[in-house]
Amino acid sequence: MESSTGAAAERPAPGRRGAASLRRDPLALLGAEFDGTRDMWRSASGRLCVVGPEAARAVLGNRRGMFVETSDFFHTRTGVFGPRAAQIDIGRAARALLRRRLDAGRAELPGLVRDRLVPVSDWPDAGNLLVRAHVADVLLGPDASVPLRQVVDGVVDRAVLAGARDRHAAASRLVFRRKVMRVLAAEIRARRAAGADEPRDLLDVVVSGGGPAARPGDLAEVYLSLLFATVGSVGFALGWAVHLVGTHPGTEAAEPEWIVREALRLWPVAWLFTRKPSGAHDLAGVAVGPRDDVDVCSYLMHRHPLHWDRPDEFVPRRWAAPPHDPAFIPFGYGPHSCAGATVTMALLTDLVHIITREWRLTVTAAGSGPHLGPALAPPRFTARLSDRTDSPGGR
Ligand code: HEM
Repeated sequence: MESSTGAAAERPAPGRRGAASLRRDPLALLGAEFDGTRDMWRSASGRLCVVGPEAARAVLGNRRGMFVETSDFFHTRTGVFGPRAAQIDIGRAARALLRRRLDAGRAELPGLVRDRLVPVSDWPDAGNLLVRAHVADVLLGPDASVPLRQVVDGVVDRAVLAGARDRHAAASRLVFRRKVMRVLAAEIRARRAAGADEPRDLLDVVVSGGGPAARPGDLAEVYLSLLFATVGSVGFALGWAVHLVGTHPGTEAAEPEWIVREALRLWPVAWLFTRKPSGAHDLAGVAVGPRDDVDVCSYLMHRHPLHWDRPDEFVPRRWAAPPHDPAFIPFGYGPHSCAGATVTMALLTDLVHIITREWRLTVTAAGSGPHLGPALAPPRFTARLSDRTDSPGGR
């Protein structure tokens, strides 16, 4: 069995925190309310929290149409981007574009890891910036103008990287956001007027998938969702995998895919999905109605003691024989589950394979808890990658 020393200490300890800090930290609040047995309860905030796999699948799968059909991904400031056919087109086209890029660029990954991570790298930013470098042409094609490129780079630096939002005053964030929306909407209008061929980048994907009726501002927001998912979520998931392997000696020998799955289980980057009931009904014994907010919490489901052995420990080997129907929804469930799940898993597995097989990894952790923003990002840490042949016993 692999070592899992210290893993339990990674879980936030809400019981020891004050009420004010619980209000600031919804993850800790929900953790404090969860008694380890329930599938669902009404939280002190009044929202319903779902952590049982069956109830979660009923909410997200929505087979009986008892919830308003939506996903968090397509929420915009003005509502939900639609119609559904456009959502599906955009998801499929984005996945196809990413897959083509990842297939074509697979051989570049070892060099990218060497350039970006050797000998020392600062995380979690290193993960986001590595992913951004690898998919740069997918985010914006080579013909994109310098101002457009600067705006997209600015979004990564000011909004995607963990803690980036806290480094800028609210007024400065607002001014920058207006500029981003103005520049992206102008580019979307220009591309629409020029007529799209085969999508060359994710902006083309939203322009052609959104159709002529879509508002440029809404398309800009969907583009930003794709940017966050690709550079933010994938980078954070890589960060968690590197952090966990680096702080649990012996686990680097596990299959890279098990490491990625176990990292996504303990620290699901997308940790809460919200839905609205469309009518009154009974969900797991609780009466819910259209006025309720229902939160499916993958973070607590993935650590549910009734569904996982040693739920708080990092044990990649558990995935050697995965449970038939695991309480595991890192990419959601049902019709709105993640369009990028398979490409994401392929890229993460390749990167973890390179980092653990070609290099000797050591991690110096500055903290062990998550950085809670729109996504569950890893804490700051330093990774050192050294040549395996440099140390005694190296291959
Ligand atoms: C670690 C990386 C990622 C994670 C953890 C993640 C997670 C998720 C989750 C949980 C959902 C469902 C949200 C809900 O039901 O409310 C979702 C939806 C979605 N994701 Fe991802 N995602 C990731 C990467 C990506 C990438 C790289 C893409 C780009 C293709 C992508 C595109 C989408 C789309 C288009 C949807 C909406 C699906 C629909 O409503 O039809 N995701 N993602």
